[in-house]
Amino acid sequence: MSQLFPGAVVEPVELADANGMVCIRTASASDVENLSVYFTGLSTTSRNKRFSGARSDLGVVAAECIAKSGGLDNFTLLAELREEGRGRIIGEALYAYDATARHGEFAISVADAFQRMGLGLQMMTAMETRAIDLGHEMIAAETARANAEMRGLARKAGFNDTGLGDWQSVHLAKRLSR
Ligand SMILES: CC(C)(COP(=O)(O)OP(=O)(O)OC[C@H]1O[C@@H](n2cnc3c(N)ncnc32)[C@H](O)[C@@H]1OP(=O)(O)O)[C@@H](O)C(=O)NCCC(=O)NCCS
Repeated sequence: MSQLFPGAVVEPVELADANGMVCIRTASASDVENLSVYFTGLSTTSRNKRFSGARSDLGVVAAECIAKSGGLDNFTLLAELREEGRGRIIGEALYAYDATARHGEFAISVADAFQRMGLGLQMMTAMETRAIDLGHEMIAAETARANAEMRGLARKAGFNDTGLGDWQSVHLAKRLSR
């Protein structure tokens, strides 16, 4: 898509308060270390929300994310801020297709300093575009009822509450259209 950002899945975006362009691209094996650094840099609150609990083995988690995205129907997207010729991961989204349930599922996070700038929505849009390209028709997700950020982001991205959650969690889904 862009010579400047090889592997980009959408046009690079400029965030209002970030000093540089942000590229949303597919992750590869060479990103494991930087992804681990990114997860380590998340606040405890954001990290616990992302992984639905505490994780300390962040190198292993990063390697798992990249390994999981190796299959045909799965991928990890990274948001990379390019500043002074160097890249820094400031967001990630892991997408995996459940062939039995016939829908994609995802988990997402944005670095604390870059939250509420529209990056989460940009990544959701990029993820949906990739899922549509793969021929998938539905994306679903479960999030904590208390996670106002994720619920707000999902609502803004067009997801609806399916009513299948419980007292702790909300089940959200969106039908994809070409
Ligand atoms: C959820 C998360 C990815 C949102 O990313 P983001 O880049 O801040 O989201 P955006 O800036 O694109 O916001 C899009 C919409 O989401 C909603 N939203 C985002 N942050 C919110 C907050 N703190 N409170 C309420 N709604 C919020 C709003 O509707 C917002 O639109 P608006 O700014 O026009 O009102 C981010 O908060 C995050 O990384 N949280 C920690 C990890 C997590 O909870 N992941 C989800 C479980 S896997």
